[in-house]
Amino acid sequence: MSKKHDEAMVIEYDRNGDASALRERSKPLPAPGPGEVVVEVIATGISHIDGFIRSGREADWPETAFPRGSGSDFAGIVVGVGTQTNGFGVGTQVIGHVRSGAHATFIVVPVTALVTKPKNVSWEVAGGLYLAGATALDTLDGLRLGADDVVVISAAAGAVGSIEAQLAKLTGATDIGTCGDRNFDYLRQLGIAPVKYGDGIAERIRTAARKPVTCFIDNFGQDGRALAQELGVPESRYRSSLDRRDTELRLLGDDPDAVAHGTHQLERLARLAADHAFTLLISGFYPLSSIVEAYGDLQLLHSRGKIVLGTHPVTTYRTVTARSVQEAGD
Ligand SMILES: NC(=O)c1ccc[n+]([C@@H]2O[C@H](COP(=O)([O-])OP(=O)(O)OC[C@H]3O[C@@H](n4cnc5c(N)ncnc54)[C@H](OP(=O)(O)O)[C@@H]3O)[C@@H](O)[C@H]2O)c1
Repeated sequence: MSKKHDEAMVIEYDRNGDASALRERSKPLPAPGPGEVVVEVIATGISHIDGFIRSGREADWPETAFPRGSGSDFAGIVVGVGTQTNGFGVGTQVIGHVRSGAHATFIVVPVTALVTKPKNVSWEVAGGLYLAGATALDTLDGLRLGADDVVVISAAAGAVGSIEAQLAKLTGATDIGTCGDRNFDYLRQLGIAPVKYGDGIAERIRTAARKPVTCFIDNFGQDGRALAQELGVPESRYRSSLDRRDTELRLLGDDPDAVAHGTHQLERLARLAADHAFTLLISGFYPLSSIVEAYGDLQLLHSRGKIVLGTHPVTTYRTVTARSVQEAGD
């Protein structure tokens, strides 16, 4: 490895806590072993589950020694290789996933966790693709939607919801998404019927659906089950926010089967994104060193699509998000 790749800037934390526990550090980078490569990270997504894990509230998340790394999604360029790297040579543009530690300028990863980045998928989208996209795919795979289905997806303009809603549409199902006023036009443009959340939502869903609702995916987790029951959705076709959490934790597993499954889903996602089967909006693109601010944005719970960190910001000016523009006019 060249001198340049001996060291990485990494984000890590030494205690459980909120985003203020995150620290930016320079660390030596280990040499890649057999089946491993060094990836220069270009873009890396942030997710709510990162924060739940960091806070220590995920009892099912096995403890590891501090300091702990942060982040699971990334896209970048292979800059160093070990042996047996299965065609992932220096210069390959890749999308990948790790249990934690993606929030860094360079990482050493097994090639079993990588797929080739399609040229027409942007770095920002590629860097935020894994956890939200694989959660959406796993959820939809389990539901086997078809043209006779009427599916309601909550938080349909958010990261997981927007991918689910667009892929559900491809099955021919009638697709209803819950959102606030600001996202009505966005969902309509995707061919998804928007319904405002809040009091009276069951009636609004019935009006939009015009036939019985058969399936309910709850991303937001507030009274989703009661609403699904009121709409007559069978329990077997209701997916709760807790189901989603379990799916996300499985997708972060680092045993070989979990990694292989995650990579298989990532391969499908990369192809679907390249074929424009869905688009993933980038709600905010922050420099890696502004990670605390990025999590603050995520916690406002009004992202449209995904919030992503970049390691090579061309400017220190913040992205003016669609949300900020909207709110300035309110
Ligand atoms: N149970 C778990 O362990 C678990 C795991 C992961 C995520 N989650 C939760 O899932 C939610 C969505 O996460 P995400 O990463 O997909 O999305 P996200 O990108 O953070 O979701 C933001 C979206 O939520 C919508 N939203 C805000 N208030 C809402 C409400 N009362 N009802 C329905 N939608 C609402 C927003 O729409 P508007 O801007 O139009 O209001 C926005 O598009 C978050 O609340 C997150 O905490 C739970």
